[in-house]
Amino acid sequence: MTDSPKSSRISGFYDLSIEMRHAELAQRGFLDPEDIPVLEGQNGLTLEQAQHMIENVVGMYSLPLGLGLNFLVNGRDVIVPMAVEEPSVVAGASHMAKLARAGGGFTAHATPPEMIGQMQILDVPEPHLARSAILEKKADLLAEVSGIDPVLKGLGGGPRDLEVRLIEESPIGAFLVVHLIYDVRDAMGANAVNTACERLAPHIETITGGRVHLRILSNLADRRLTRASCTIPLSELAFRGFSPEEVRDGVIAAWAFAASDPYRAATHNKGIMNGVDAVVVATGNDWRAVEAGAHAYAARDGRYTSLSTWSSDGAGNLAGELEMPMAVGIVGGATKVHPAAQVALKIMGVTTANELAEIIVSVGLAQNLAALRALATEGIQRGHMSLHARQVAIAAGAQREDITRLAQQLVVEKTVRIDRAKEILAAWNEK
Ligand code: MEV
Repeated sequence: MTDSPKSSRISGFYDLSIEMRHAELAQRGFLDPEDIPVLEGQNGLTLEQAQHMIENVVGMYSLPLGLGLNFLVNGRDVIVPMAVEEPSVVAGASHMAKLARAGGGFTAHATPPEMIGQMQILDVPEPHLARSAILEKKADLLAEVSGIDPVLKGLGGGPRDLEVRLIEESPIGAFLVVHLIYDVRDAMGANAVNTACERLAPHIETITGGRVHLRILSNLADRRLTRASCTIPLSELAFRGFSPEEVRDGVIAAWAFAASDPYRAATHNKGIMNGVDAVVVATGNDWRAVEAGAHAYAARDGRYTSLSTWSSDGAGNLAGELEMPMAVGIVGGATKVHPAAQVALKIMGVTTANELAEIIVSVGLAQNLAALRALATEGIQRGHMSLHARQVAIAAGAQREDITRLAQQLVVEKTVRIDRAKEILAAWNEK
């Protein structure tokens, strides 16, 4: 292999055995030898640890962990661990990252990691006066919660702002909502924000004369946005008999469908989340929070739409952009407890939550392009089926080189079903 050691391009990786892949990663410095048993499930999360994570534990649940290759994000080569059960996701992201690489890779930027905590205030006698009173006391209120988490404070995090909203109409009438804006640095931030909201609540009650009801983080983390963009050179776009222009215009037309129709937008965004969630899960982050934020953000203008945009740049290349909330952390929670999440972060070499967010959104954009390119050309089933056929072949009991041979046979016959796979295997074994 001729690629430079820390390159995310590892040619022939797909054809290596799992053991050889581990050796390759260790040799290139992405892993230490002691990380390998974690990936093999030996030194991973223990039942004992699992016991302390959730309730009524009876066992463990595994997912395949694959590597997204070829990623260049803000000029840095990154190998991206992806935990996902769906075939084609890892291959699709890796392939599109390779095309993007030819255009300089992904450029990504995350805003400061500011989360929003919400307090719902009921029974406020004078809502407009209460609003002004809260804002007048803003500095004192922020000071009240600035020292709650000394570690976070030491890292430069803490409260940033307070906003007051009046919800004039609701099923229970009008009420006030206070937003606490809190910089959570490298954490996902739910704990820090919820604690701060609970601490503020009695003070808000004193100021407003109302009753603070809910005190909880908002998953519409629209102050914590990440944007990734890439340009795929026109020359990279030709695909299976389709000209580069046909692929470019086909992707743009596919995006236009999602931009204008919520039925299509839901599926389009699901394709983005295929990549996003795989990295969020691999790093032990809360994928439900990221999902909730993504879809709420996609509907921010009152109509659900595409999270990404695709267009042709001045030179006829294909330009893509994805912006979405990305509330992920690299400290605390499962990220710290789960040994495989630690290895995943090590493989990526990320040192801040923002850097992780930038990689995740780049993967989402790559994943979106993989789906749109397939849909706009030969359709999704061909590529999907050949990978699905491998899973079916394995499930039918095929081993080693028979896996690829059987998968190919199933695709040729256009019958990717386990009963047929077993039949073929039995016939081969009889010979
Ligand atoms: C399937 O998991 C994801 C796709 O449906 C996404 C899309 O349609 O854009 C292929």
